[in-house]
Amino acid sequence: MITSFYMPTRIVSGSGALATLGTLARDLKMSRVLVVSDPVISAQGFHADALAALSEAGITVSRFDECGIDARCSHIDDQGERVRRDRIDGVVCIGGGSVMCTGKGIAIVATNQKPMAECTGVGQFDRKALPMIMVPTTAGSGSEVSQWTIVKDEVRHLKLLGGGPLSFPDAAILDPVTLRSLPMHVAALPAVDALTHGVEAYLSGIASPLTDAVALAAVRLQAASLRASINSDDDRARENNLVASCMANIACGNARLGHGHALSLPLEGHLDLPHPYGVGVLLPHVVTFNLAVLPAKVRPLAEALEVETAGLSRQEMISACADAIRALYADIGFPTRFTPGQLPRDRVREMAQRAVPGLYAGIAAKDFDPASANDRTLIASPAARKMTVRQAEEIFGLCVA
Ligand SMILES: [Fe+2]
Repeated sequence: MITSFYMPTRIVSGSGALATLGTLARDLKMSRVLVVSDPVISAQGFHADALAALSEAGITVSRFDECGIDARCSHIDDQGERVRRDRIDGVVCIGGGSVMCTGKGIAIVATNQKPMAECTGVGQFDRKALPMIMVPTTAGSGSEVSQWTIVKDEVRHLKLLGGGPLSFPDAAILDPVTLRSLPMHVAALPAVDALTHGVEAYLSGIASPLTDAVALAAVRLQAASLRASINSDDDRARENNLVASCMANIACGNARLGHGHALSLPLEGHLDLPHPYGVGVLLPHVVTFNLAVLPAKVRPLAEALEVETAGLSRQEMISACADAIRALYADIGFPTRFTPGQLPRDRVREMAQRAVPGLYAGIAAKDFDPASANDRTLIASPAARKMTVRQAEEIFGLCVA
């Protein structure tokens, strides 16, 4: 199998790294930037420090602070037009996954001059996005090093992924100061998303020794630092968790994501379930399902998840991997099941059918008729093991409380 590994984003990390923002922007020839954020983050002291660093570097700042839970196509299209009109030449994102996906979308539509929905799918645009600097304020999505943006098409109720080599961020600044203001219940959500990125990259059918090395190191670092980064005031653990989530996305950016993300997509689009709940609740089941066909990967993953493997059979190690993830969830206050309100039982079959186009279909998914999927229809996914609609339905069933 031919594989490639591509990671062009410059990563500046460590306590105090945010102070380099102005210099980085100048290095990228930015003179007028759009700073993208949300109402909570834009009120934080580190956000003001970031704006000051840009101004001190002689850079003119415009702002869009209205990002919400999802990156919305309408916001992206409006701001892309604004960027073109005002001759803005760079985008700086300060926030979590939805902020970075919004800013990445703006940078894409600004140069490609077509609506965001038409830029979704794999490599569906021809021009390099505007230069981007990402400042993640959660240890989670890894969007700061990802070519992909995940957006919500509010009209069609679809969550859509888009991107390609032309939409990698140019620089990412990982500074633990940005995580200090996060309440525990907020910090746990993106942390779980990051864990799914590392694990799903490792379980991918297009994983390589390169992606496996980064994915396992990410899972190991997350398993070791996640509890302390969320439950205590430990800046070192927060920094480790930021680096781990970044590594997890470098791995899944190259090995791609599996059933957790494919099955979560219809829940997010049609039931408005926040992304980390969808992928996180599914993860233990996805691990069990895929490890069944990856015997050589069982022990390394178990050990990365801090399972004591001595004396365990392979099957016991597989179960222990899922248990270790559930134990981690319990310690950081994350659920292991969907509530009936999040996923009603009478919509389980429909959600399994809607998952068929997979994560990477983009706007082409709008033409898919879920009623056309039967028990044996496969869910499109690069995961190591093929999953049918029937199997997806069974997994959803196990996840509903
Ligand atoms: Fe994710």
